[in-house]
Parts: sequence; C-alpha cells; structure tokens
Amino acid sequence: MNEETAPLTPEADRHATCTAAPRPDFCGIEKPAPCGIIIFGSCGDLSKRKLIPSLYRLFANRHLPDGFFMLGSDRIETDDSGFRSIMEEAVRAAFPGDFSSDSWQKFSDRLFYAEADFNSGDFFVSLPARLKPLEKKFGTGCNRIFYMALPPAVYETVISRIGGAGLASEENGYSRVVVEKPFGSDIESSRHLNGVIGASFSESQTFRMDHYLAKENVQNILMFRFANSIFEPLWNRRYIDHVEITLSETLGVEHRAGYYENAGVLRDMFQNHILQLLSLTAMEPPAAFVSERVREEKVKVFRSVRPVPLDRLGEYVALGQYGAGSINGAAVPSYREEPGVNNNSNTPTYAAMKLFIDNWRWSGVPFYMRSGKRLSKGKAEIAIRFRAVPHLMFSNVLEPVGSLSDTIDPNLLVLRVQPDEGISLQFQTKMPDSRACLRPVLMDFRYEKVFLLDAYERVLLDCMTGDQMLFVSGEIEELTWGLLSPVIERLEGMKGGFKFPNYPSGSNGPAEADELIRRDGRLWRAL
Ligand code: BG6
Repeated sequence: MNEETAPLTPEADRHATCTAAPRPDFCGIEKPAPCGIIIFGSCGDLSKRKLIPSLYRLFANRHLPDGFFMLGSDRIETDDSGFRSIMEEAVRAAFPGDFSSDSWQKFSDRLFYAEADFNSGDFFVSLPARLKPLEKKFGTGCNRIFYMALPPAVYETVISRIGGAGLASEENGYSRVVVEKPFGSDIESSRHLNGVIGASFSESQTFRMDHYLAKENVQNILMFRFANSIFEPLWNRRYIDHVEITLSETLGVEHRAGYYENAGVLRDMFQNHILQLLSLTAMEPPAAFVSERVREEKVKVFRSVRPVPLDRLGEYVALGQYGAGSINGAAVPSYREEPGVNNNSNTPTYAAMKLFIDNWRWSGVPFYMRSGKRLSKGKAEIAIRFRAVPHLMFSNVLEPVGSLSDTIDPNLLVLRVQPDEGISLQFQTKMPDSRACLRPVLMDFRYEKVFLLDAYERVLLDCMTGDQMLFVSGEIEELTWGLLSPVIERLEGMKGGFKFPNYPSGSNGPAEADELIRRDGRLWRAL
C-alpha cells in the first residue's frame, strides 16, 4: 500500500489520508464452476430486494460462470415468463438508472420458475426431473445450490424434503444449502435446526448466512489486525481500555413486524452481526487464513465470553423501544404504531450490552455493544479506545482551558463498516504556534472506490466457489445462542419492568443505555 501522510498543517491536519495501491491482477474475483441455483421463496422480499438483483449484477459484470441458471420456486401461480416480469420489476427498482435491458434479456433467459406447495412432498419428488433438462441445457452438471429465502418456520420441511428427494447427494456434482438468519430463535431451536440440516447435508455443504461478514471492511478486520505488525502488540488489555461496537439504523421496523415482534433487537442484530464483529475483533490470529482455522478461533472467543450474570442484568443490558419522533426532518410513528405491531408491544428495538472475555488478552476489558432502530444516524463501526497516557508530564506548564489540563483524549482507532468505509486513528498533536497546547487529529483511511461486490454478491459467489469463510458454522450458531438465550429469556420474563417507549425516533437511544456505560466512568462515542 502506498501511504501518503499529509503534513499536519492547521488547514490539512484533520484528515491525513492514506491511499490504496491499485489492485494487482491476482486479486481479481474468482470465477466459479458452472452451477444451478434453486431459490425457495423466489418471489419474496429477500429474493426481490437482494438475491435476484445481486445475481443480475454478477451476471452483467461477468462474474457468473457461463454455465448458470436459476430456478425460482414459490407459491405464486405463474410461469417462467410471468416470473421474469416480476423479477425485472424488482431489478429495475433495485438499480434505478443503472439497468441494462440488453444484460437483463440475456440474464432472464436463465431464469425459470416452478410453482410449489412446500408442504406437499410432490414438488420435491418432481424436482430432479425439472432440473435435469436445465442442467443439460446450461452444462451445469449436478452442481446445485439450494437457497432458503423462506420464513424460518418452513426451513425444516424444505430441507428435509430436499434430502428425501436425494438432492443433497454429491455423487455427480456439489450440493449446497444456504440458510438465512434467523438461525433458530434460541439455543434449542438452533440445535434442532442444525440436526435437521445435518440429517441431509454435511457441515461443508451448509452455508449459514450473516451478510455482515461479507461487508468489505468487516472482511478487512483480520487483514488489518494480522497483516500489520504495529497494531497487534497493542491489541490487548495492557493498551486497550474498552471496545465499542455500534450498529445503529435510522430505519424502523418497516413491513417486518410479523418477524420482528417475536425477534426484537437481541435476536435480530446481536446473536449474529454484533457477536460476529466481536469475535473478529477479539480472536487470536488463526494459523492460516482458511475458514476452518478462522472458525476455530471464533469458537475460542465465544467459549471465553463470561456469561452475563442474570441476577445483575441491569448492569449489563439496557433495552429500549422507539417512540414517535422525526428522522431527517420527517415525522415517524412509534414502534407500537407501526403496521402489524401490537399496540402494547414490549419488543425491544434497541439494546446496549456489556460483555467481558475471560482470557489472557482481554481480561478486564469491557466490550460495549449497542444496536437500535430509528436512531439519529445509521452507522456500523468498531471503536477501539486505548488507555490514557500513564503520566501527564505536561500538566505543570499548561492552563486548564483549551489546553492539556488533567485529561487528554486517549487514542482511538475506529473501523468504519458503513457508511464511509475506512479506518481512522486519532492521536494528539501539538497545536501549531502554541507553547504546549494539544489537540486530537485524525489519520484517516477511506476506501477510494465503490466496491466491486456488495455483501450479497460476495456471499453468492463464495457459496458457488465453496468458500465458507464468510458463513457461520453450526457450532458458532449454538454458542452465540447459548450466550444470549438465558439473557433473552430472563428479559422476556420481566417485560412488565420496561417502560416503553423510552427513546424518541431520531434520538441517540434511551437514557438507560447512557447510564450503562456512564456507570463505568465512560461515555458512548457520538453516533
Ligand atoms: C438484518 C436485520 O439482518 O440487518 C435488519 O434483520 C437490519 O433488521 C439489517 O435492518 C441491517 O443490515 P444493513 O446491511 O442494512 O446494515
């Protein structure tokens, strides 16, 4: 990487920048072997908003293999041409102003549809016969990906029936199953689902989605930590005071009340995205950059997380639910007024939580995590707050105002996942021309370009190439549920104890969350 550090002049000092070197050829995007992808729930929201647009863009940018087709199946009564029209509308909506009719034409020739009642076994019995001619026409052999874009309640039936129809066999090609989150709703259900999948598919055939893992700067965490020698020696309890993980959204529950009312923020954002970010931040260096080794290190992190003391939950967890307010100047309703939400709902839309990792590296370092909907800003970041300097040698020459008195902002490293993906390091410098005034400046790395692949494009390609690095193992699903299930159960048992709503839309969250960190003598970073 070429590094250009701008001189810290009064004008330029806020953002010293680093620019990245061009991508060498061998860093190109790998082209997978021919395959057919079968999407169950192909007319649903996920397919329309993410899967089909991602496949279209991969196709238009020539990242898909020449041998490729997609068979959609759903309850909707339509045929291939009706399905293509529905999908065209969805793709146009996903890329307004960036839609090529020519690419669409070529792509849509590879889209097919099979109406299905997933509760009846007949569809699955007839599926091999439906696939055969397509596999022949597109030369995909028997390489098949079965994508569950379905409500989780249907996973079990569909996965067992795929297995029952002999379609999980890898005799003549690969067979993979992709399962979206939520992966169960507690420890028992996730264990059960692992059992159901395991009865037909092996672990190496199973791809459990967490789209946060595919975000570019999340993938970058391990590179940043383990391809640089200057950070790792500091990455521990001796130098780090605490870690903050923030996933905030301005969006509300939208049209997903049916799911969200039963999930709430702890199941929706913590069990998966937040705990994955925690593990990448906290793990030891894997022996090799391959999925098995990386997963092993994540497992060790989860096994070292200290269980939250259920009799002192208030010190460790703060919950919230949004009330009415305004987002970007527009009035928005409270959670309880959203369509499909019970008007006495006690589902939390915000949570802050503190965890400790009991191992040599992290003993005593709190990890503060927060996530919520309808907050003042939407962002995802990991902030590493270093310890304060041990001795203030300047204090004898300084005046207290605008200069160093008894505190200096400690160093802060922020990994920005979104928006404005990048990394910044804040450190102190002498204020130019002053005798001994200090002020914090930022050294900031920003990705220069829009990424070639978005998170769904990345995971779809990885699934085709069989790389499980960005997917979650069955063991990790169970470990993360094991950490959260007791907490969620206890909180659900005391729902009367919450006075919701307790933060207005467009705010920074509930006062209880501020209190959680303030009690430890710390403050959240501003959103
Ligand atoms: C999903 C959650 O997993 O992640 C949603 O179910 C949330 O509730 C979404 O809005 C956030 O993802 P992103 O990529 O928009 O930050």
